[in-house]
Amino acid sequence: MEAARVRIVWVVILSAIVLKQMKSSFMKKEVGTCPRPKDLRALGCSCSILPKGSERSFVCNAARWNADTAARFAIIAGYAEKNSFQFRGKLKWETAKSNGSSEELERVITSPFTALCGSNVQSLKLLHFTYAGEPPHCNFASLEFDDVSIDFPTFFSTAKPSQLRVLNQKNFTGLENLSGVKDLRIHNSSLDAYTNFRLMTDLRILAIEASDLQTQRLDFIPKRSNSLHLVQIRDCKIRSISADLWSAAPHLQHLDLANNEIESLPEDPNQRDTRPSLFLAGNPLNCEKLDWTRGRVIRNPTWQADSIPQCYPRN
Ligand SMILES: *[C@@H]1O[C@H](CO)[C@@H](O)[C@H](O)[C@H]1NC(C)=O
Ligand SMILES: *[C@@H]1O[C@H](CO)[C@@H](O)[C@H](O)[C@H]1NC(C)=O
Ligand SMILES: *[C@@H]1O[C@H](CO)[C@@H](O)[C@H](O)[C@H]1NC(C)=O
Ligand SMILES: *[C@@H]1O[C@H](CO)[C@@H](O)[C@H](O)[C@H]1NC(C)=O
Repeated sequence: MEAARVRIVWVVILSAIVLKQMKSSFMKKEVGTCPRPKDLRALGCSCSILPKGSERSFVCNAARWNADTAARFAIIAGYAEKNSFQFRGKLKWETAKSNGSSEELERVITSPFTALCGSNVQSLKLLHFTYAGEPPHCNFASLEFDDVSIDFPTFFSTAKPSQLRVLNQKNFTGLENLSGVKDLRIHNSSLDAYTNFRLMTDLRILAIEASDLQTQRLDFIPKRSNSLHLVQIRDCKIRSISADLWSAAPHLQHLDLANNEIESLPEDPNQRDTRPSLFLAGNPLNCEKLDWTRGRVIRNPTWQADSIPQCYPRN
């Protein structure tokens, strides 16, 4: 209840900010404002200003996009700024060579992403998106896929994000083509086959929830991943943890394995000052085997009070 109320308040405040920003964008055209709503509507798009300031967020209905639309979008939205961008819908794409007179139109439009490659779009979200064409010819720092049907390995041959969100995906493939990803979060998805996260040596955050990993053993952490500080694998039917977990991730700060089928954890041999916090609620723990964790389970204030591991008395 509390969370729902907070969210409602947040949405109302956000809308108020966006409305205020949009109002000022009608009056003066400057960096940090949205293009005219009329121009955007003609492209099946809408725009809002993110509360942080001049970041703009675009949402476009992909079903209405083609080479011409993408080029027109580049003209009205392609000036230098940080942007986030969202495509929804089924997209039928025909590659065409544009022959307009402006600089943007002279570029060859090879994909719906061409316009975005010309701008400073950092963050691309694809939602209920079906597409079978050329991948983007540029990179995006942050990618989110939610119920998307594309050829992922081909997509990742050019788009190499450092931040990746995967939601509601069946048979998700192509992770092995993403060695540079730093922040990977997967929710309610199934991976097509056993995935080797071990290639992702730059990982800082690995968070997977309610997903089918095609394995019940947590042995896929990259070796010597010095940057990895948070591993959260929740509700994924994990049964066992490989003994090299602690040596593989020497700088781990949080290990959250809630709601799996884990009885015990390998003992952490390190005598570090900054011991990782462990969160093991919702597992059939064998408390005798976990005696070594006594005094090490740190309660994180953001975790709910009733999720304290069952092995220890509440105080
Ligand atoms: C390119 O030019 C031809 C001939 O002028 C025209 O028929 C066509 O619509 C133009 N294509 C685009 C994408 O503007
Ligand atoms: C993706 O990775 C696999 C395995 O490493 C490789 O065989 C394939 O060629 C890669 N695909 C692309 C599009 O780079
Ligand atoms: C999980 O993803 C599937 C599609 O893969 C979707 O049908 C289902 O509604 C999702 N479940 C939740 C709880 O979001
Ligand atoms: C996922 O892969 C399985 C096995 O290869 C296949 O049976 C299933 O149809 C696939 N599902 C989708 C949505 O592609």
